[in-house]
Amino acid sequence: MSDPIVVWHEHAVARADREKLAGHRGAVVWFTGLSGSGKSTVANAVDAMLHAAGVRTYVLDGDNVRHGLNATPQLLAERYGAAFGERFGLGFAPEDRVENIRRVGEAAKLMAEAGLIVLTAFVSPYRSDRDAVRQTLGGSVADQGDFLEVFVDTPLEICEQRDPKGLYKKARAGEIKHFTGISDPYEEPLAPEIVLPGGDESVDLLAKRVVGELQRLKVIA
Ligand code: PPS
Repeated sequence: MSDPIVVWHEHAVARADREKLAGHRGAVVWFTGLSGSGKSTVANAVDAMLHAAGVRTYVLDGDNVRHGLNATPQLLAERYGAAFGERFGLGFAPEDRVENIRRVGEAAKLMAEAGLIVLTAFVSPYRSDRDAVRQTLGGSVADQGDFLEVFVDTPLEICEQRDPKGLYKKARAGEIKHFTGISDPYEEPLAPEIVLPGGDESVDLLAKRVVGELQRLKVIA
């Protein structure tokens, strides 16, 4: 694929140089699961553990990214006007989620190339979107790629009981359209690198499992 008006430019500092400086490789740990499953909580716990061990990390979280890079139509409309919000904002319709995940995958790729271990926490409900990110990142870390998928497998009933933001209640009342698990599907990963029983174990234990797996796969020492 090529476009004659944009030509690739090689960086003066190679990825390998950045990884040497960091003392570990770059990679993307992709947490997926229902809203309220614990993705952000576990990703942040892993972040804290790795950071304390001197690993260069960063968390990309759905709620936060949707305030900026992938802001919602409403947030963009408040800042730049209704027409701008309508054109560039990303909501939760299927095509908006596709673009949300595509952009996050590309952003995470840049950060992995900068030598970071990126922890992403997005519902990312569609298998094809997650598989596309896996491809963008050159496949699994187990096969020399940069992608590691973590399925936070918390049953819908538990997520709905937790309902930390009151969104399930609103979705059940029909006040939120396209709500994952209620009026929009969640497609479970078929072969994730890690499955976490998010309804059964403590955050600390789940995070330790992820760190252990990163060691086993030699992403970190
Ligand atoms: S996606 O599907 O990956 O594009 O979603 P994501 O960017 O991760 O954003 C999910 C958070 O937005 C809130 N929210 C919704 N989630 C699912 N469906 C609908 N319709 C929806 N509307 C708002 C919700 O709080 C999600 O946050 P988490 O942290 O996952 O609970």
